[in-house]
Amino acid sequence: MDQFEGGDESFLQRIIYEIMNGPQIINLPKFLDARGNLSFVEQSNHIPFVIRRAYWIYDVPGGECRGGHAYLENQEFIISLSGSFDVVLDDGIEKKVFTLNRSYYGLYVPKGMWREMENFSTNSLALILSSTDYDAHDYIRDYSVYLKMKQNGEI
Ligand code: TYD
Repeated sequence: MDQFEGGDESFLQRIIYEIMNGPQIINLPKFLDARGNLSFVEQSNHIPFVIRRAYWIYDVPGGECRGGHAYLENQEFIISLSGSFDVVLDDGIEKKVFTLNRSYYGLYVPKGMWREMENFSTNSLALILSSTDYDAHDYIRDYSVYLKMKQNGEI
């Protein structure tokens, strides 16, 4: 028989939590089944922004890093669909490392954080849900520029 877990936290509570606490892991429902497990993500129940875009990162050679930038507007929800990797988030004051290695939770990343992805395992697959269409002008790619903008309260 299927076993259902998750979905107990109210969406409003989570948004309040995000505003107060920034990045966080959001659990997704999972149906545990002898035939194989199933999880899903729903815009209205799990994601604190409207999804405009999805992209995925795969076939990352050992030792490579992705990211290394901040977004002015874009928010993200990152799920490890397969394998594992680390997401390093830096708000200009402190760095936090989130290891993603299960497909039944994801990491909410607010706008304005410096973020890098590293330590990809073989065959890892990262799915990223985004709040904006791709826009090269939304990126800050220079860490010293990022720090300056943070210090000046511009981001
Ligand atoms: P980018 O976000 O710069 O990834 P990273 O910081 O890990 O290098 O994306 C790499 C390239 O892919 C970028 O030059 C443009 C393209 N791209 C799109 O065209 N659309 C997208 O949604 C994304 C994420 C990237």
